[in-house]
Amino acid sequence: MKLQRVIQYAQTLLTQCIEKGEVAVDGTAGNGHDTLFLAQLVGDAGHVYAFDVQKQAIDATSERLFEHGMSNATVLLDGHENIAKYVHQEVAGAIFNLGYLPGADHTIVTKGNTTILAIEQLLQLLKVGGIIVLVIYHGHDGGKEERDEVLRFVSSLPQKYVHVLRYEFINQKNDPPFIVALEKVKQFSK
Ligand SMILES: C[S@@+](CC[C@H](N)C(=O)[O-])C[C@H]1O[C@@H](n2cnc3c(N)ncnc32)[C@H](O)[C@@H]1O
Repeated sequence: MKLQRVIQYAQTLLTQCIEKGEVAVDGTAGNGHDTLFLAQLVGDAGHVYAFDVQKQAIDATSERLFEHGMSNATVLLDGHENIAKYVHQEVAGAIFNLGYLPGADHTIVTKGNTTILAIEQLLQLLKVGGIIVLVIYHGHDGGKEERDEVLRFVSSLPQKYVHVLRYEFINQKNDPPFIVALEKVKQFSK
Protein backbone atom coordinates (compact mmCIF):
# COMPACT_ATOMS: atom_id res chain seq x y z
CA MET A 1 0.00 0.00 0.00
CA LYS A 2 1.35 3.41 -0.96
CA LEU A 3 -0.50 6.63 -0.19
CA GLN A 4 -1.36 8.45 -3.37
CA ARG A 5 0.67 11.60 -3.98
CA VAL A 6 -1.18 14.85 -4.39
CA ILE A 7 -1.25 14.95 -8.21
CA GLN A 8 -2.09 11.25 -8.41
CA TYR A 9 -4.95 11.69 -5.94
CA ALA A 10 -6.29 14.70 -7.88
CA GLN A 11 -6.42 12.49 -10.97
CA THR A 12 -8.12 9.68 -9.07
CA LEU A 13 -10.87 12.05 -7.92
CA LEU A 14 -11.42 13.38 -11.44
CA THR A 15 -11.45 9.90 -12.94
CA GLN A 16 -14.14 8.87 -10.45
CA CYS A 17 -16.54 11.69 -11.32
CA ILE A 18 -16.01 12.35 -15.05
CA GLU A 19 -17.51 10.11 -17.75
CA LYS A 20 -16.87 10.04 -21.49
CA GLY A 21 -19.03 12.62 -23.30
CA GLU A 22 -19.20 15.03 -20.35
CA VAL A 23 -17.86 18.57 -19.90
CA ALA A 24 -14.84 19.37 -17.70
CA VAL A 25 -13.00 22.57 -16.78
CA ASP A 26 -9.31 23.28 -16.24
CA GLY A 27 -9.26 26.56 -14.32
CA THR A 28 -5.50 27.06 -14.71
CA ALA A 29 -4.24 25.62 -18.00
CA GLY A 30 -0.54 26.41 -17.48
CA ASN A 31 1.51 23.97 -19.52
CA GLY A 32 -1.59 21.93 -20.33
CA HIS A 33 -0.94 18.74 -18.39
CA ASP A 34 -4.32 18.80 -16.66
CA THR A 35 -6.15 19.99 -19.78
CA LEU A 36 -4.78 16.99 -21.68
CA PHE A 37 -5.70 14.64 -18.85
CA LEU A 38 -9.28 15.99 -18.83
CA ALA A 39 -9.54 15.89 -22.63
CA GLN A 40 -8.58 12.21 -22.56
CA LEU A 41 -11.10 11.54 -19.78
CA VAL A 42 -14.09 13.12 -21.56
CA GLY A 43 -13.07 11.68 -24.95
CA ASP A 44 -14.09 12.86 -28.42
CA ALA A 45 -17.75 13.16 -27.48
CA GLY A 46 -16.99 15.39 -24.49
CA HIS A 47 -15.48 18.84 -24.13
CA VAL A 48 -12.95 20.66 -21.95
CA TYR A 49 -12.81 24.41 -21.29
CA ALA A 50 -9.36 25.55 -20.16
CA PHE A 51 -8.54 29.04 -18.85
CA ASP A 52 -5.33 30.95 -18.32
CA VAL A 53 -4.39 34.62 -18.20
CA GLN A 54 -1.01 34.12 -19.93
CA LYS A 55 -0.60 33.74 -23.69
CA GLN A 56 2.43 31.52 -23.06
CA ALA A 57 0.17 29.07 -21.17
CA ILE A 58 -2.50 29.13 -23.87
CA ASP A 59 0.11 28.37 -26.54
CA ALA A 60 1.74 25.58 -24.49
CA THR A 61 -1.64 23.99 -23.75
CA SER A 62 -2.85 24.21 -27.36
CA GLU A 63 0.41 22.67 -28.57
CA ARG A 64 0.21 19.81 -26.05
CA LEU A 65 -3.35 19.01 -27.11
CA PHE A 66 -2.36 19.12 -30.80
CA GLU A 67 0.64 16.83 -30.22
CA HIS A 68 -1.69 14.28 -28.64
CA GLY A 69 -4.30 14.60 -31.40
CA MET A 70 -6.96 16.06 -29.09
CA SER A 71 -9.41 18.55 -30.60
CA ASN A 72 -12.10 18.45 -27.93
CA ALA A 73 -10.95 21.45 -25.87
CA THR A 74 -11.49 25.21 -25.98
CA VAL A 75 -8.45 27.01 -24.58
CA LEU A 76 -9.33 30.53 -23.47
CA LEU A 77 -7.05 33.48 -22.77
CA ASP A 78 -9.17 34.78 -19.91
CA GLY A 79 -9.40 34.49 -16.14
CA HIS A 80 -11.30 31.63 -14.54
CA GLU A 81 -13.39 34.25 -12.75
CA ASN A 82 -15.19 34.57 -16.12
CA ILE A 83 -16.08 30.88 -16.47
CA ALA A 84 -19.83 31.54 -16.59
CA LYS A 85 -19.34 33.72 -19.71
CA TYR A 86 -18.11 30.70 -21.67
CA VAL A 87 -19.49 27.54 -20.07
CA HIS A 88 -23.23 26.99 -20.20
CA GLN A 89 -23.43 23.21 -19.97
CA GLU A 90 -23.45 21.02 -16.89
CA VAL A 91 -19.88 20.38 -15.70
CA ALA A 92 -18.80 16.94 -14.43
CA GLY A 93 -15.48 17.94 -12.88
CA ALA A 94 -12.88 20.69 -12.67
CA ILE A 95 -9.32 21.23 -11.54
CA PHE A 96 -7.37 24.29 -10.43
CA ASN A 97 -3.63 24.07 -9.90
CA LEU A 98 -3.09 27.28 -7.98
CA GLY A 99 0.10 29.34 -7.93
CA TYR A 100 2.43 30.36 -10.76
CA LEU A 101 3.40 28.83 -14.08
CA PRO A 102 6.67 26.89 -13.63
CA GLY A 103 9.43 28.40 -15.77
CA ALA A 104 7.56 31.69 -16.27
CA ASP A 105 7.02 34.94 -14.36
CA HIS A 106 6.54 33.97 -10.69
CA THR A 107 4.66 37.19 -9.96
CA ILE A 108 1.71 36.13 -12.12
CA VAL A 109 -0.17 34.00 -9.62
CA THR A 110 -3.71 32.95 -8.89
CA LYS A 111 -5.45 35.11 -6.29
CA GLY A 112 -7.96 34.25 -3.57
CA ASN A 113 -10.73 36.58 -4.71
CA THR A 114 -10.76 35.41 -8.33
CA THR A 115 -10.33 31.75 -7.35
CA ILE A 116 -13.39 32.08 -5.10
CA LEU A 117 -15.42 33.74 -7.88
CA ALA A 118 -14.55 30.80 -10.15
CA ILE A 119 -15.54 28.23 -7.50
CA GLU A 120 -18.88 29.98 -6.94
CA GLN A 121 -19.68 29.89 -10.65
CA LEU A 122 -18.57 26.28 -11.03
CA LEU A 123 -20.63 25.10 -8.08
CA GLN A 124 -23.71 26.33 -9.94
CA LEU A 125 -22.69 24.55 -13.16
CA LEU A 126 -21.53 21.32 -11.51
CA LYS A 127 -23.62 18.16 -11.75
CA VAL A 128 -24.65 16.49 -8.50
CA GLY A 129 -21.78 14.05 -7.88
CA GLY A 130 -19.33 16.35 -9.69
CA ILE A 131 -16.07 17.42 -8.07
CA ILE A 132 -13.91 20.55 -8.10
CA VAL A 133 -10.29 19.76 -7.21
CA LEU A 134 -8.05 22.56 -5.95
CA VAL A 135 -4.34 21.82 -5.74
CA ILE A 136 -3.14 24.48 -3.33
CA TYR A 137 0.48 25.60 -3.63
CA HIS A 138 1.29 28.09 -0.88
CA GLY A 139 5.08 28.45 -0.73
CA HIS A 140 5.32 31.49 -3.03
CA ASP A 141 4.65 35.19 -2.33
CA GLY A 142 0.91 35.61 -1.88
CA GLY A 143 0.36 31.85 -1.64
CA LYS A 144 -0.52 31.81 2.04
CA GLU A 145 -3.01 34.67 1.63
CA GLU A 146 -4.75 32.81 -1.21
CA ARG A 147 -4.68 29.54 0.75
CA ASP A 148 -6.27 31.15 3.80
CA GLU A 149 -8.94 33.03 1.81
CA VAL A 150 -9.91 29.91 -0.11
CA LEU A 151 -9.97 27.74 3.03
CA ARG A 152 -12.17 30.26 4.82
CA PHE A 153 -14.59 30.29 1.89
CA VAL A 154 -14.82 26.52 1.31
CA SER A 155 -15.13 25.80 5.05
CA SER A 156 -18.24 27.97 5.13
CA LEU A 157 -20.07 26.11 2.33
CA PRO A 158 -23.26 24.41 3.56
CA GLN A 159 -22.67 20.67 3.97
CA LYS A 160 -26.20 19.92 2.77
CA TYR A 161 -25.03 20.96 -0.73
CA VAL A 162 -21.26 20.53 -0.80
CA HIS A 163 -18.87 18.12 0.89
CA VAL A 164 -15.39 19.58 1.30
CA LEU A 165 -12.32 17.37 1.74
CA ARG A 166 -8.72 18.29 2.55
CA TYR A 167 -6.00 15.79 1.56
CA GLU A 168 -2.57 16.65 2.86
CA PHE A 169 0.76 15.18 3.93
CA ILE A 170 1.34 16.94 7.25
CA ASN A 171 4.97 16.02 7.99
CA GLN A 172 6.61 17.29 4.79
CA LYS A 173 8.93 20.30 4.70
CA ASN A 174 8.80 23.39 2.45
CA ASP A 175 5.08 24.08 2.19
CA PRO A 176 4.05 21.02 0.15
CA PRO A 177 0.90 21.41 -1.95
CA PHE A 178 -2.34 19.91 -0.69
CA ILE A 179 -5.75 19.17 -2.14
CA VAL A 180 -9.12 20.61 -1.36
CA ALA A 181 -11.93 18.77 -3.15
CA LEU A 182 -15.53 19.96 -3.30
CA GLU A 183 -18.21 17.44 -4.12
CA LYS A 184 -21.66 18.78 -5.00
CA VAL A 185 -24.13 16.52 -3.23
CA LYS A 186 -27.43 18.35 -3.83
CA GLN A 187 -28.75 20.85 -6.36
CA PHE A 188 -28.95 24.39 -4.92
CA SER A 189 -32.48 25.60 -4.42
CA LYS A 190 -33.38 28.59 -6.65
C1 LIG B 1 0.42 26.17 -11.31
S1 LIG B 1 0.08 26.87 -12.88
C2 LIG B 1 -0.97 25.67 -13.64
C3 LIG B 1 -0.27 24.41 -14.10
C4 LIG B 1 -1.09 23.60 -15.06
N1 LIG B 1 -2.26 23.03 -14.45
C5 LIG B 1 -0.30 22.53 -15.79
O1 LIG B 1 -0.81 21.40 -15.91
O2 LIG B 1 0.79 22.83 -16.30
C6 LIG B 1 -1.03 28.18 -12.48
C7 LIG B 1 -1.54 28.94 -13.70
O3 LIG B 1 -2.62 29.78 -13.29
C8 LIG B 1 -2.64 30.88 -14.18
N2 LIG B 1 -3.52 31.93 -13.65
C9 LIG B 1 -3.25 32.94 -12.77
N3 LIG B 1 -4.36 33.67 -12.54
C10 LIG B 1 -5.36 33.11 -13.28
C11 LIG B 1 -6.74 33.41 -13.48
N4 LIG B 1 -7.34 34.42 -12.85
N5 LIG B 1 -7.45 32.62 -14.32
C12 LIG B 1 -6.86 31.57 -14.97
N6 LIG B 1 -5.56 31.25 -14.83
C13 LIG B 1 -4.82 32.00 -13.99
C14 LIG B 1 -1.17 31.26 -14.32
O4 LIG B 1 -0.97 32.02 -15.47
C15 LIG B 1 -0.52 29.87 -14.37
O5 LIG B 1 -0.31 29.45 -15.69
